Amino acid sequence: MPDSIKVEINQNESFLPKKFFNEQWQLYQKVLNKNYMGHHEIYVVLHELLLNYFQKPFTMLDIGCGDASFTSQALLNTQIAEYTGIDLSNPALKGAEKNLAVTKCKTNFIKGDCWELTSELAKNKENKFNVILISFALHHLQIEEKDNLIKQVKKLLIPGGIFILIDIVRKEEESRDNYVKRYLENVEKYWSLLTPQEYSMVENHMSSSDFPETQQTLQTISEKYGFSDFKCVYRDSLDTTQMLSFYQ
Ligand SMILES: C[S@@+](CC[C@H](N)C(=O)[O-])C[C@H]1O[C@@H](n2cnc3c(N)ncnc32)[C@H](O)[C@@H]1O
Repeated sequence: MPDSIKVEINQNESFLPKKFFNEQWQLYQKVLNKNYMGHHEIYVVLHELLLNYFQKPFTMLDIGCGDASFTSQALLNTQIAEYTGIDLSNPALKGAEKNLAVTKCKTNFIKGDCWELTSELAKNKENKFNVILISFALHHLQIEEKDNLIKQVKKLLIPGGIFILIDIVRKEEESRDNYVKRYLENVEKYWSLLTPQEYSMVENHMSSSDFPETQQTLQTISEKYGFSDFKCVYRDSLDTTQMLSFYQ
């Protein structure tokens, strides 16, 4: 990874990482600890996929990595050789550095707006990865931005590589508002240890910042940019979240 790309780029005004970190990170940690978003099941599937798909050393770019607590566990005992995490938040990257230590692979951490950084990275043909992961981060973007990010991701993959998208996905024919309503009904029902204030934070965050797409929309984008195959590797029992793999 050349040093020239390790630059800080002005953050996207529409997403304020410090605010996210201070106000919502603790809540996100609680949600992860209680497994309310199904990280345990999802990352077991990711671990199996990485084990089976890569018999040789591989590199990973993790976009919107957060503290990579689950990614680092999924990478344990795989052939990971080099991991690069991108995030807007410094404390998240510090956590990621700590969590990745167990894998003993080479690591790089880049602070900046991943949507801008991926375009920067894609300009240099030497920046290529076997796996690119975006987990619970793409849904903050509008459709044109998602489309453009996936276009850059395609350029950043080594032939034979995979883009893995873990994210909230709405049903075909389900509107964004109906998805948010359905998700929040599940939160009320199953996220039983949230305080009323925490529930309001989840509600506010989802209503203002979450824009899930349908699987069909994501598949159409994958075909537009010439991915050779597209698979749904995991779908949760409530049909709110999926892991999708796009094959270079
Ligand atoms: C919900 S967390 C997901 C963290 C981790 N990938 C996971 O699955 O648990 C979303 C992460 O994306 C980061 N993020 C959001 N927008 C970003 C942007 N434009 N550039 C870089 N990181 C961003 C946030 O700082 C946060 O760490």
